[in-house]
Amino acid sequence: MDKSKRSAVIAGNWKMNKTPSEAKALLNELAPMVKDADCEVIACVPFVDLTAALEATEGTNIKIGAENCHWEESGAFTGEISPKMLAEMGVPYVVLGHSERRQYFGETDETVNKRTKAALKAGLKPIVCVGELLWERECDITEEVIARQIKLDLFDVSAEDVKKTIIAYEPVWAIGTGKTATADQAQEVCGFIRATLAKLYGQDVADAVTIQYGGSMNADNCEELLAKPDVDGGLIGGASLVAAKFQPIVAAASK
Ligand code: PGA
Repeated sequence: MDKSKRSAVIAGNWKMNKTPSEAKALLNELAPMVKDADCEVIACVPFVDLTAALEATEGTNIKIGAENCHWEESGAFTGEISPKMLAEMGVPYVVLGHSERRQYFGETDETVNKRTKAALKAGLKPIVCVGELLWERECDITEEVIARQIKLDLFDVSAEDVKKTIIAYEPVWAIGTGKTATADQAQEVCGFIRATLAKLYGQDVADAVTIQYGGSMNADNCEELLAKPDVDGGLIGGASLVAAKFQPIVAAASK
């Protein structure tokens, strides 16, 4: 399958930024700027911003995502949000396994796998993040790390469900550091992710999965990254917080 048959997906990951009123203002500013986008445009926002974000984007082409969810439908899990809650709100996407969750909040491949399966069961589309640490790249085990994450995070996920899943390749050393992977490095690992999916699910399924690059993607470097055959979009942190910085990335993906 050639790349043009997969939908390009540009997703903002706002992290712990923007209050509900700030979220509304940013989305109101962004909506007219990306209305003719020839790619999917998603804003993944803090839980408390979801209502404002859904309202602000009603009738626009911007879709909303959450930044995490639990794996149970309900129960004694103080502070957590279930996939069922997000689904009932009408939230279509959820980021799972972001390296900041893995690094600061004890997220493991086992819990990423549980969350992924639960999100899919609730009808959400997960954006599952994988990526190596700098130290792992220096030790030349990037492919081992990525293969392990893909196998564990997607364990027991059906081929049909994998097609609904977006994989975001985010080298941890490139997140928020201003250090972007070169387009060749991004292609190498995104291609490796697709090859790993092909081994697990067959080439047809692998060809249908959207694989994003994330890590300091911005207006200056997005074109080169998005031109690579296995880079189907981007997961954008810092540059998603300012409409004028996010819009050029959407425009580049629309070409
Ligand atoms: P960044 O974040 O674009 O600020 O590097 C990307 C991400 O963490 O998803």
